[in-house]
This record gives sequence, structure tokens and C-alpha cells, in this order.
Amino acid sequence: MILLDGKATAQKKQIELKKTVDQLFLKTGIRPKLAVVLCGDYPPSQIYVRNKIKACQEVGIISDFIKLPSDITQSNLILEIEKLNQDPLIHGILVQMPLPKGLDSNLAIEAISEYKDVDGFSYSSLGRLMAKNSIVKSCTPLGIMRLLEEYKINVSGLNAAVVGRSTIVGLPMQMMLTHADATVTLCHSKTKNLSVILQQSDLVVVAMHQCRFLGQQDFKKGAIVIDVGIHPPGPQNAKISGDVRFEELENWAYAATPVPGGVGPMTIYALLENTVTLFKYQNKIDELV
Ligand code: GUN
Repeated sequence: MILLDGKATAQKKQIELKKTVDQLFLKTGIRPKLAVVLCGDYPPSQIYVRNKIKACQEVGIISDFIKLPSDITQSNLILEIEKLNQDPLIHGILVQMPLPKGLDSNLAIEAISEYKDVDGFSYSSLGRLMAKNSIVKSCTPLGIMRLLEEYKINVSGLNAAVVGRSTIVGLPMQMMLTHADATVTLCHSKTKNLSVILQQSDLVVVAMHQCRFLGQQDFKKGAIVIDVGIHPPGPQNAKISGDVRFEELENWAYAATPVPGGVGPMTIYALLENTVTLFKYQNKIDELV
């Protein structure tokens, strides 16, 4: 089985991206800058945000960390976002989700300029993706496409299944695989005969958020298995685990992502790539310099 090593791939691609960022700086005198907005103190979000800021530093992207109180009002949050929209030296804006209770995430996302929506979460970004006219694409599915590219896995003509229909992962993943000429079945909690669909699938992207839910018998022999789930140690799992029982895939899958070290690092890489893409878009730089 081929181990789809997201950690190593992200590191390699970040080194390449750093060269691009340095060349962009030589050409323009400015560096891409990402604003990271965190409301409240939700511990997992603090860890995610810290990792994102660290990754920015590694590739020479400037980050601006905006920490807001958990009891901020919706209108004050939107005012903060609008300030960032108006700052010409900020190229990407990320509002870390979930927001504290009482704040509407859709309103926050829609307040971000469509040209600075680094997560690709906005209605405009999702619509552009569907119309094959994206500026940036949602980070997790983009990271997965980059990982498949790195391992020269061509999805054209494959039967693919995506399990999970969130607007962050499942729906944009379905769209990106479709645009890459896979035949995609989108499965979710109300899907009947999930196992029949998975048995026919050459490629499965699992984003169910159910700890160690799927194993060898759920997949066709020789399938490519991408696990988006991430679960901290708990009653069912001594270690950090995914939605898939990864250890069962050896001698069964053609290729699979581990958790940790699979999709997670690629999602962060995609965020950096998107920041650079927005910088180039805003500065009207078409080609890789
Ligand atoms: N919360 C969990 N994942 C993400 C992400 O990719 N972006 C944002 N903004 N919030 C998140």
C-alpha cells in the first residue's frame, strides 16, 4: 500500500511555496499577508490558529492575529472584518470556526471580501468553484487534490465516493473530483446502502466525523482511501485517530492517508497556497514568477 504522506508532501510543497513568496517579494516589495481572526478561547481553535500562524512564518507569509472576545457582538465582528477588507496590505482573511454561541458564521463569512476569502467558504467562492472559475478553492479538498497530484494519482474516469456533505469538505470535494473527470457519488447520513456504493468505489474520501467507523471490509480491494476525520484520544482510541481503521488497510488499499500526518498538513499547505493566490490576484500577477 502506498502511504499518502501528507506531512512530507506539505513540507516539500511549503519549501517550493517559500521560493515563490520570496520571488514575489523581490518583484513587488511586499509579502502576502493573512489576517487570522479568532473569537473566544475554544482550545482546539487556539491550536489550529497557532499551527496556521506558524506555517505562515515558515514560508515567509506575514500573519496578523486578531484575537476578539467571545462576547463580541455580531456587528462589531463585522466591523473588524470590514477594517481588514479595507487594508490593502492584507490579502487573505480567515475567521476561525466555530464562532462562539450567538454569532452567525454565515454573516461573518459573507462580510469577508470575496477577493480575500482565503478559506473559500463564501457563497461567491462556492459558486465560482461550481462554475469552474475559482479564485481559491476550499482548503481541505484542495489539499487532497494536491496530495493526489503529488503521488501522480489521476482520478479521471475513477468511480469516487465522498462521504459527508458539508460545505467545507464534502460538497467542494465532490465538485473538484467531478471537474477532474471522476464519477462522483456523494454519500451522507441518510444514504442507503453505503457499503454497496463504497464497494464499487476506486477512490473514497471519508469525512464522516465518526471515530474509526470504516475498515478494510468497507472498501474495494485496491481502493484509494482519503481520511479527513481527526479524533483526539478517547474511549475508543488510545491515539489520535481518523474515521478509518487505517491499520486494516495494509495489503488491501492501493493507497491511503494516515491520521495524523495525512490530510491535516495538506489543509494547512492549501491555506498558504490560497493566500499566495489571493496576493497574486490582487496584484494582477498571473504567472508564477
Ligand atoms: N475550523 C475548522 N477548520 C477550519 C478551517 O479550515 N477554516 C476556518 N476558518 N475554521 C475552521
